[in-house]
Amino acid sequence: MEDNYKIKELKKRIQEAELGGGEKRIQDQHAKGKMTARERIAYLLDEGSFQEIDRHVVHRCHDFGMEKNKIPGDGVVTGHGAINKRRVFLFAQDFTVLGGSLSETVGQKICKVMDLAVQNGAPMIGLNDSGGARIQEGVMSLGAYGEIFKRNVWSSGVIPQISVIMGPCAGGAVYSPALTDLVIMVKKTSNMFITGPQVIKAVTSEEVTAEELGGAMTHNTKSGVAHFAEDTDEAALDRVKEVLSYFPQNFREKTPVKECEDAPDRREEHLNRAVPANPKIPYDMRDIIRTVLDQKAFLEVHRHFATNMIVGFGRLNGYSVGIIANQPRMLAGCLDINASVKCSRFVRMCDCFNIPLVTFVDVPGYLPGVNQEFGGIIKHGAKILFAYSEATVPKIAVVTRKAYGGAYIAMSGKHLAADINYAFPTAEIAVMGPEGACNIVFKREIDAAEDKNATRERMIQEYRENFASPYRAAEVGYIDEVILPEETRPKLIGALMMLRNKKMRIPDRRHANIPL
Ligand code: HXC
Repeated sequence: MEDNYKIKELKKRIQEAELGGGEKRIQDQHAKGKMTARERIAYLLDEGSFQEIDRHVVHRCHDFGMEKNKIPGDGVVTGHGAINKRRVFLFAQDFTVLGGSLSETVGQKICKVMDLAVQNGAPMIGLNDSGGARIQEGVMSLGAYGEIFKRNVWSSGVIPQISVIMGPCAGGAVYSPALTDLVIMVKKTSNMFITGPQVIKAVTSEEVTAEELGGAMTHNTKSGVAHFAEDTDEAALDRVKEVLSYFPQNFREKTPVKECEDAPDRREEHLNRAVPANPKIPYDMRDIIRTVLDQKAFLEVHRHFATNMIVGFGRLNGYSVGIIANQPRMLAGCLDINASVKCSRFVRMCDCFNIPLVTFVDVPGYLPGVNQEFGGIIKHGAKILFAYSEATVPKIAVVTRKAYGGAYIAMSGKHLAADINYAFPTAEIAVMGPEGACNIVFKREIDAAEDKNATRERMIQEYRENFASPYRAAEVGYIDEVILPEETRPKLIGALMMLRNKKMRIPDRRHANIPL
């Protein structure tokens, strides 16, 4: 039987909305190597799970002849669905409709799903591809951005928020992604900047391309604004799925547990040789991290930024953990401004979402230098102390080699309420390295000696044997156990399982005042 005219009308309206800005603009989008908003949603969500909201919304602008240019759904597709059977809310800006620009109604659609996400305790995903504030709508569109920013902040630490940048993201629009937990960019097709190349040229006379200024690799290597750079839309959406698998749905839930096919008691004899006996020889901390995690799978976050610090996700016995580690291969693993910011932000994100912290320590100290001091290493370095001290999730640390000075305390030291601190026999825990210490403490003896070099060497050796070991710290309980490197995985899993029901509170307050 033929549909009655009301059914026909609805079907027609749905079809119209699904075409967005029309065939020609869809082709343009494909020609740039980009998927459309609806294709992205279909790829991201479990098949058939997408439930659209506000398909019939149109803008209300009457200026500049806009009343003749109304497209159902306006410049964004919104709704909810499932990823690996877990509920998510999302919006996908539709570049085929007025460049995905943000009108008052686009803003209202986005806010509606953001409210639903937070009320229902499920992650919020934003797929960004937009020319920014809809110029024809003036302050209405600015207001809409403000409403989104406020919701980003109110959702922060309540539900995971992931931003994917899949096209232009200009002007104040960049601040919504910046307020979310993780930013994933697509190489070549996406960019983020507050003002574009032309404005920069006019104001500062600097010449720069959009890619150099705000492309994926710029924000992954230089600014640290983005956490992942992916080759294609598909790869970026795959990354969203992978990242979310480590997160709970909201801060009240524990992380999902994956069935573990890797023996919890797996020992790795080669780890006993992973840390070179000579403290000056570097090694790749990633090798140790991968070896101990389930299936040796490590999802590194911020891989290209501040590479003297490593952060990322893994699983131990099926449970999500956040890994933080110094990388002795880069700047000897010291803490500089960027590494401090990278580490602190990651620690706080894990703490928001009940993800236990496992820290691998090999750190000679904070990086000395005029630029570091002028740049505020004091306040940025303090962020690490702040983040670890306020984190109440289980905190486990392994000192593989150096743990000197303030950096010893900062990197999940016992004194910042770490739960279990292990050390390898190669650990050196002291106020400073043997060379520096001897030049200060034994200066008089060295100066008075006939053979100064031999005396210095002897002093250094004595100091190393007496102080640069894990045993002084273990004698006073700052290290809970000196372990064989080969047993790192079973030891970590044992500690993690013991801490599964950890409950800890720090003093109540309105909110803490982290040094920004
Ligand atoms: C209205 C817009 C628009 C916008 C693009 N379009 N941006 N319409 N408001 N902000 C429209 C274009 O007119 C065009 O419509 C269609 O989208 C596609 O745009 P093109 O320019 O043809 O595409 P392309 O060459 O790929 O360039 C994309 C672009 C460029 C780089 C995004 O359009 C651009 O520079 N747009 C302006 C960016 C900007 O300055 N935005 C304001 C930022 S300030 P037709 O009908 O011709 O196809 C801001 C403030 C936010 O966002 C503050 C928050 C606090």
